[in-house]
Parts: sequence; C-alpha cells; structure tokens
Amino acid sequence: MADDACFLGVDIGTSAVKALIVDAREQPVAGAEVQLATSRPAPGWSEQHPDLWWQAVRQALSEMAVATPGVLGRVAAIGLSGQMHGAVLVGQDNRPLRPAILWNDGRAVAEARALNLSLPNLGEIAGVPAMAGFLAPKIAWLRTHEPDVLGAATRVLLPKDWVRFLLTGEFATDMCDAAGSLLLDEARRQWSPLIVEAVGLQLEQLPRLLEGPDISGRVTAAAAAATGLPEGIPVVAGAGDAAAAGIGIGAVEEGDAFISLGTSSQLFLTTSDYRPNPAALVHAFAHALPSRWFQMAAMLNGASVMAWTASVTGVPDLGAALDAAAARERNISPVTFLPYLQGERTPHDDPAARGVFFGMDGGTDSLDLLQAAVEGMAFTLVDAVAALETAGPVPAVLAAVGGGSRGRFVMEVVASALGRPIRRYTGGERGPAFGVARLARLAVTGEAIKDVCVKPELRDVVLPNAERQAALAARLPLYRDLYRTLKPLFPRS
Ligand code: XUL
Repeated sequence: MADDACFLGVDIGTSAVKALIVDAREQPVAGAEVQLATSRPAPGWSEQHPDLWWQAVRQALSEMAVATPGVLGRVAAIGLSGQMHGAVLVGQDNRPLRPAILWNDGRAVAEARALNLSLPNLGEIAGVPAMAGFLAPKIAWLRTHEPDVLGAATRVLLPKDWVRFLLTGEFATDMCDAAGSLLLDEARRQWSPLIVEAVGLQLEQLPRLLEGPDISGRVTAAAAAATGLPEGIPVVAGAGDAAAAGIGIGAVEEGDAFISLGTSSQLFLTTSDYRPNPAALVHAFAHALPSRWFQMAAMLNGASVMAWTASVTGVPDLGAALDAAAARERNISPVTFLPYLQGERTPHDDPAARGVFFGMDGGTDSLDLLQAAVEGMAFTLVDAVAALETAGPVPAVLAAVGGGSRGRFVMEVVASALGRPIRRYTGGERGPAFGVARLARLAVTGEAIKDVCVKPELRDVVLPNAERQAALAARLPLYRDLYRTLKPLFPRS
C-alpha cells in the first residue's frame, strides 16, 4: 500500500449520496454530496430509481476529482453504506426492473401483518416483527400487485448493493443490510430459508453474505473507466447506514450506544450477542463486524422534520431560524407536534400515522412551530429509550451523530428530553461514509478492529437544562395522548 493511500466511503443515503475520502490519519482529503429526489407515486409510497444512485455516485466522484486533482488515484479500498430495507429488483439483463421501493414506503402493511400471522416466531428469527418498510413484506406486496415484475427478477438487492454490482460485477451484501431485509437468521448470520420461502423467493436470488470488512469484489475496468477510480482496488461489503454510523464513532463493543439524527433517526445499542425483543418493536440486528449485534429503535422522522417545518413556513435558513428560536429562551414551545410525517416504526408500527400541530392560536408563529418540531423529534427519542429499556438499561450518557446533531439548541432539547448528557465527537456529522471508509481500511491494512474502530476525539458534552427538562417532562403525557387519541382517525386503506 502506498504511503499516501486513502480510503473511500460512499453512502447511498435517501436525501443524498455522500462520498468521503480519508487518508491514513483519518483526515478528510475530499468529500462530495449529491442530492437525490424521492418520488411518491401514491400516498405513503416512496421510490428512487437505482440509476439515480449510480449517476450521483459518478457525479460525487467527479466533483472530488475536480476539487482535489489526483485524489481518486490514491484510493486503496472502498466501503459502501446505504439506506437500509429498500427493494431493488434486477432482471436477466442485469438492469433494475422498476424503481426501488424504499425504507419509508408504507404500502406493504397487509403483507407485513400476514407474514407475522403465518410465521409467529418471525421476530425471534429475524430480530423484529415484519413492518411495512422492510424488504420481505415488499416482496410479498409485489407478488400480489406486480407478479410479472417479481417473476422477472433474477436478483433482489439492497440499495447500496446495486452500486456494488456496478463497481465490481458482484452480488453481495453485509450482515446489517441483510438484517434489514428481514430475511436473515440473525443468530446464525445466514439467510433464513424459512422466511425466504415464505415470501416466495429463492436463496439463489439473494446476494452473497459477508461481514463488513470482507472484500466483496474489485473495481472492474468498465467501472474504473466510468468513475476514474483505480481498476482492481477492493470494494468491501460495508454496512447498512445504521451500523456504518456506529463503526464511524467506535460503537462496536457491548454497551456502546448512540443516537443518529439524519433523515430518519435511530437509537443504537451494541450487543455482544443476539438479544431479540420483538414485543417492543426493537430491531435486534447483526452488526457489520463479526460476532456483534445491536438493538435499535428506528424512527422514520428524524432531523428531516425540522427542514420540512422550516420549508412549509417559508423560513429560508433553518440554522438561523433555530438560532432565533433558541434566542427566545423559552423552555418549551406553546405548540405540540407529532412528527409522524412518514408514519412511524418504533414504537408504533403505524405507516398511517401523520404529522399534527396541536395547540395553535392566532399568535403562533413559524418559530413556535419550529421549536415544536425539534421537541417532537426529541420526544420520539424518549419513546425510543423507553422501547429499549424494556429489555435492559440504556446508558446514562449517549453519543449523537448525524447532520441533526450539529446544532447546539437541538442537542440541548434532546439532552433535556432524555434527561441525559449527550456526547458529540469531532467529525460526528461525517456519518456512515466515514464508518465504511474504516471498513475499507481494515480490509487492506490487516489492522485489528479495536485499533481502527475507535471513538473519535470528544468535541463536547451537551447537558440537559433543568428547566427545559421539567417542561418537556410535563408535556410528554400530552404528546403521547395525542397519538393515542388520533390513531383511529388517521386514514387507513
Ligand atoms: C433503519 C432505517 C434507516 C434507513 C434510512 O432501520 O430505516 O436508517 O436505513 O436511513
């Protein structure tokens, strides 16, 4: 390996493809972010065409090559991360047969229910009961609604693994993304023939299973020509975005816990064995490193609810508006917000739930609504902690990562809602791309996991504010009551 060797992480996110190149000291050398659009062909549906991901990957690489000439030539290995749970169907000609159906698509409600009825121990095997956003019920939906498409599918992949195929010609995935399909036997870290058969798939249609740092293939001549990457460099299995974020901040040993605030949000707790807790809708999934698992509360509405609130209230600059909301020094907004813009997974499993602002009067303004959005998002994390606590203790101090963790005001609301100090690490917003760059490094340097997957330097610790904590605790019962009361009123098909 050359002295100036670098490692590339590519994250196929939902709102953007993010690429990051770091050097051997883990210093960022180049980075690019290319936005992605999501199409919503029907209420509650959410799709992206896999071609968009590949275009965005190529664009991100070309932007980095222009901004930092020669950088792609220094890349020694590549790691892939991505949005989990999506269904990519590939035909005989190795082309996608239809747009991918994403993690936040709620169409497969009936199929998820039917799977849980037909396989009562599904949650024990696959780590969580079937919910609409997972890949397995989507396959069941396609069987009923698009049988020709499903019949033509020679391969079924997770989103990032389509990019892997274009880079290497290989069909493979990592354990975490495999877990998110709901087709994995979590304890054995193998596809579950029982579940695969129950949704009408065959094992041959599924990608090869690898641990995160395993080499899945090498950049082909065609991919090198299309991207500017060196031909022949390894592409490691990588990780679904939840585990990739964990690897980036060194959450790789029993008890390491963090909150991730991206488009969606998660509360993630690393475990050294497989500990399913299906009744609480906690996801017990394989980590992307061998012999490790994690428990996760997965919420569909993360930092994106703040951006949405700013945009619909005509606020041009979210950061400035959050500063303005903080400057009001109000412990709590007069308005309460249910942030379920895309339904909710943990703890409700309710794709039909929707966003609600409650308690507005003639004096309510955009900053009241924005503060309510921050608080609503923080309350989902309180529910997440409660879900995980049904199985065991959640650490008294949590780390936070992801774009939503950047703002001090947002973090103070979260720390106060949870009544827990929140640690932020230097580079904590680098996210899943950084985590899989670490996996790429592991593959080529032969270093030990414990030496590479370390916790980054601590940037600060955001403490709960006692008055805000009291105000949020007093509001929590209303927040919970609102959902319980409105649940029967959300339209269900
Ligand atoms: C995790 C989850 C999200 C998606 C999109 O269960 O649904 O993390 O992977 O980021």
